[in-house]
Amino acid sequence: MTPDEQKRMAAARALEYVEDGMKLGLGTGSTAAHFVDLLGERVAAGLNVLCVPTSEATHAQATGLNIPLTTLDETPALDLTIDGADELDAALNLVKGGGGALLREKIVATASSRMVVIADGSKVVETLGAFDLPVEVVPFGAGATVNQMREIAAGLGCNGEINRRKTADGKPFFTDGGHYIYDCAFGVIPDPVALAAALNMIAGVVETGLFCGIATLAVIAGPDGAKIMEPA
Ligand code: 5RP
Repeated sequence: MTPDEQKRMAAARALEYVEDGMKLGLGTGSTAAHFVDLLGERVAAGLNVLCVPTSEATHAQATGLNIPLTTLDETPALDLTIDGADELDAALNLVKGGGGALLREKIVATASSRMVVIADGSKVVETLGAFDLPVEVVPFGAGATVNQMREIAAGLGCNGEINRRKTADGKPFFTDGGHYIYDCAFGVIPDPVALAAALNMIAGVVETGLFCGIATLAVIAGPDGAKIMEPA
């Protein structure tokens, strides 16, 4: 089974958590895109849901599938968000933001009663940090912000290059909110909760890709099928 087939299997299994009448948050990325596809099939067959997308890309996909959409202004409390992750540990702390949507993803996930993560088995790690941690930063004063990030992270045992993200064709990357993303190659993040709190204290940091204590359950697909993980 290819990693993409595993992603689709996790997405299909997560559909079991969706009930008629629910208000849903729709994640971003290739795994979440499988979920949106499958949800679209269920909506076409008569399922009644109301959804908030976490990116312009997911908004476009859901619109194309005639999935009813709303906003957090109209519908501030959601039942369930389903989203992918770049890494997750046994406590269901996550690294997210590989697709650059971490801010809206976190706003939507924390407006939801539950967050179900969907991923292939390669995303499960013992210690977060092998995947470069994305941090969303305000363009004004970004150089000073990055220096503060470097210093604060080093104090928590996180060292490594911090690089501004570019698009695949080498152009500067901007988030849907018009911010920069810096990818932090820490290798290991010994204390994700402390690092997230410390980085969020820096004025120019909008949000980090560390999602700690937010996910309630994960559906992890591998060659032997889809398994459920709950926070350890
Ligand atoms: C986007 C994200 C994605 O959920 C994360 O990057 C995983 O993506 P994929 O499902 O394509 O592996 O956080 O900002």
